[in-house]
Amino acid sequence: MQIKEVARQLNTTTRTIRFYEEKGLIHPIKQENEYRIFTEEDLVRISTILALREIGITINEIKQLLNDGSRSINSYLNIQRSALFEKWLELKDMIATIDQMLERSNDGQTEMSEILELSEHLKNLKSIRKSWEDKWNFDSQAVDYDQNLKMHGYHFNVHQDYTRALKRVVETIQLKKGDTCLDIGIGTGNLGSKFIAHGVNVIGIDQSKNMLHECKKKHPEIDTRNGHFLALPVMDHQIDGIVSSYALHHIEDEQKLMAFEEMDRVLKPEGEICMVDLMFQNKSHRKAVIDHFTNTGNKVAVYSIEDEYYADRSVLIDWFKTNDYQVETYTFNPILSMIYAKKQIEGGSNC
Ligand SMILES: C[S@@+](CC[C@H](N)C(=O)[O-])C[C@H]1O[C@@H](n2cnc3c(N)ncnc32)[C@H](O)[C@@H]1O
Repeated sequence: MQIKEVARQLNTTTRTIRFYEEKGLIHPIKQENEYRIFTEEDLVRISTILALREIGITINEIKQLLNDGSRSINSYLNIQRSALFEKWLELKDMIATIDQMLERSNDGQTEMSEILELSEHLKNLKSIRKSWEDKWNFDSQAVDYDQNLKMHGYHFNVHQDYTRALKRVVETIQLKKGDTCLDIGIGTGNLGSKFIAHGVNVIGIDQSKNMLHECKKKHPEIDTRNGHFLALPVMDHQIDGIVSSYALHHIEDEQKLMAFEEMDRVLKPEGEICMVDLMFQNKSHRKAVIDHFTNTGNKVAVYSIEDEYYADRSVLIDWFKTNDYQVETYTFNPILSMIYAKKQIEGGSNC
């Protein structure tokens, strides 16, 4: 088939096809008269490239994808979806800021300082969303993660009540057959997978592609998605329940509040959240625990606590109450708590 016919069939231009050839994405046969001949296989490849370009994947990424047999198209689509959700949320924030600016300027008494304040707030949101980085390198922990959970005898065993805590989450959150549940920071799937037997659809979100790979290997039924606490790859109000275990303490305090806004965005009215994580009851409890470890010479414990972002449980409770959730907590040990929150229907109460 000649280039004009290919362009016609795929609803594109000959220029685009030549550009893909220049970039080394396609290799049509060149005849002696310099005319290019395209096979059926070339046609499939070009339509794949066009589809990937349509969803914003760059030429270089497409080249890697087409030349690297080890990575599936799914993994690229997954990464792309997560990036687009991040952009979408950024755009939503921008539109909300413009709305607020317009609202204030419509009353004719706007001070320039108010507009600047709103734009500063927007800048701040962007920087919170972008500032997270994986300083623990979870990709490198994925293969041995489950094995390491079983190890005992550490100076400071953060997984001391792991099995009990996950079980309690499953018993607390009220999910039924056909519901959709998000497990954020799913890791290798130890919590999310417990809902599959109950007929719940589980979406597992993690920022680590290797954790997601391990999770999918163990639990093919889980819909694994690249994503982030601060930009969940899910549309608004689609989710019945959100669970998370041992993940929240990897994001800073102000990021936690943004993560809650995100959970609230994707949750259906009356949705539930149940998280188990390393946290303190409040500031003075944190001080008392750290003082205890310092006085008993447990440097490992002090280092571990200070290397991560254990929540102040009282701040989390406040956020949920202010945002119309009914909240309950459960303490497993001095550093491990569960927090359960159920969104209340507007104008009513489900206590
Ligand atoms: C200690 S593991 C816990 C895994 C699993 N939930 C469990 O209980 O065994 C923490 C997981 O959270 C993920 N994680 C950490 N920060 C995250 C973030 N900001 N967004 C999404 N996932 C995150 C890590 O990649 C890792 O898989």
